[in-house]
Order: sequence, then structure tokens, then C-alpha cells
Amino acid sequence: MQKAVAATPNVIEVENVTFSYGKLRALSGLTLHIPVGVSFGLLGPNGAGKTTLIRLMVGLLRPSSGSVRVLGEQPSREVAARIGYMPQLSALYPDLSVWENLDFFARIYGLPGATRRQAIDRVLRLVDLWKRRDDVVGHLSGGMRQRLSLACALVHRPPLLVLDEPTVGLDPELRVHFWRFFQQLTKEGTSIVISSHTMDDAAHCDRLAFLREGQVIAEGPPQALRDGTGDPKATLEEAFLYFVRRGTVNVA
Ligand SMILES: Nc1ncnc2c1ncn2[C@@H]1O[C@H](COP(=O)(O)OP(=O)(O)OP(=O)(O)O)[C@@H](O)[C@H]1O
Ligand SMILES: [Mg+2]
Repeated sequence: MQKAVAATPNVIEVENVTFSYGKLRALSGLTLHIPVGVSFGLLGPNGAGKTTLIRLMVGLLRPSSGSVRVLGEQPSREVAARIGYMPQLSALYPDLSVWENLDFFARIYGLPGATRRQAIDRVLRLVDLWKRRDDVVGHLSGGMRQRLSLACALVHRPPLLVLDEPTVGLDPELRVHFWRFFQQLTKEGTSIVISSHTMDDAAHCDRLAFLREGQVIAEGPPQALRDGTGDPKATLEEAFLYFVRRGTVNVA
């Protein structure tokens, strides 16, 4: 499938969104348009607002002001069922087995009997946990739990994946494996939003937004952001710091 171009519709549209936790303003007038069928990275330091923005996208939070549209609609339960959401903190049940966790999420997403079993088998093989399917989750390694969390987000084949720091704690081999898999998904037309701190993840994304203090400070393809510094050889870290210093919104 062809990659998104300027004329393609957006899978997510965030317009001038402000969000506060009590007196703490986590997002300040944030605007972001995410095209269909690309991997889109949300990059920023601790507290930048990535998780808050993701929770708004999946409908767990409502903006204090501004608007969010996902898959062409306002976030709702119906829209949430078409999103594969992997939260930053594991939502797995440690006392249940790998298979039982997947079955639980597949039921929440409304997959009926036979389809559910097939879907679970498919994702278990995708994340290479087939042999561990009867193990209790509490006995898995951290990386295996990450793989299972991803499998839970994928089980209903959603057109949109929203993954909050999915590569944290993964070994380099597994990170490469995840990214190959994400690239395969976007080729098939799935849209992926992924938050991260690491510039290694950033380099793999089709497009990036640099977030800082609840605002987007720059947005565009990785190389365009590097070019935006005036030095095409600049690293993404250097590009981030450059846009922090510039202090205005930059669209590459
Ligand atoms: N439930 C909450 N109650 C109050 N303040 C919160 C809550 N969740 C987040 N915040 C605050 O909102 C701001 C943005 O937090 P958020 O979790 O969105 O950042 P983040 O970019 O995801 O950070 P990290 O990289 O550490 O995951 C921070 O100042 C944080 O302390
Ligand atoms: Mg976070």
C-alpha cells in the first residue's frame, strides 16, 4: 500500500487542545494532525505531555478546551473499540496466563468464539509467545510482558495502534523486531502513534512531533527535522535541542 501523502485524510486531529490536572497544565494549546497509514512518533522528555495526549486520543480523558477527532469522530466507546491501545503501565493481569490475558482483551473488543481463538493464535505467534501461552504472566520477563501487551493491543486487528512507550526495556534485538513489525503494519495500512524518549525509535518513525511542556515544538519527517537545524548531519537529539532553543512551532 502507498504511504500517506499530503492529500490523505488524517487519522487523528488535535486542535488547540489544553488539558489540566487540577492546577497543573499538562497540554497548552496543542495542535497536531496525524496522517493515515504512517508511524508517527511523539518524542519528548519526562512530563512533556505524551501520555496525557495519548489518553485524550483514546478517549480516557476529555480536553479542557479544544477538540480531538480520531478515525474521523470524537473519541467514544465505539471509536475506542477500533483502536489498539498499549498503555505506558502494563494493563495485564499477572495472575492469569498469557492466553487468558489475550482472551480477556479479545472479549472486551467483542471478538466472537472461533474468531477469537484464531485471533489469539495469530498474535501469539506474531510476538513469539506461542510456547509460553499457558505461563502465568507474573512469571514472564519484562520484555515478554511488553510483547504480550502489544499482542493484546493487536488482537482485534485495529486500523489504529496507539502505543505508549512500547519499546522501553526491550533488548536491541527485540527492538529491531518490533520496528520491523511496525513497518509491516504501516505497509498494510495500519496507522501507528508511538511515544518514546529514545532517538533510536524516533529515527524509525515516518513522522515525528517533538513535545515539550505540553506543546509541539516541531513536527515533520525525521530527516526534515534534522535538515531544519541547517545541518543535515545533525542528530535527532541535536535537532530537538535546536528547536527547544528556537522556541517557536516548526513544521518541516
Ligand atoms: N494523573 C495525574 N494527576 C496529576 N498530574 C498528572 C497526572 N498525570 C500526569 N500529570 C502531570 O502532567 C504532566 C504531563 O505528564 P505526562 O504523563 O503526560 O508526561 P509524559 O510525557 O508521558 O512523561 P513520561 O515520559 O515520564 O511518561 C506532568 O507534569 C505530570 O506530572
Ligand atoms: Mg508517559
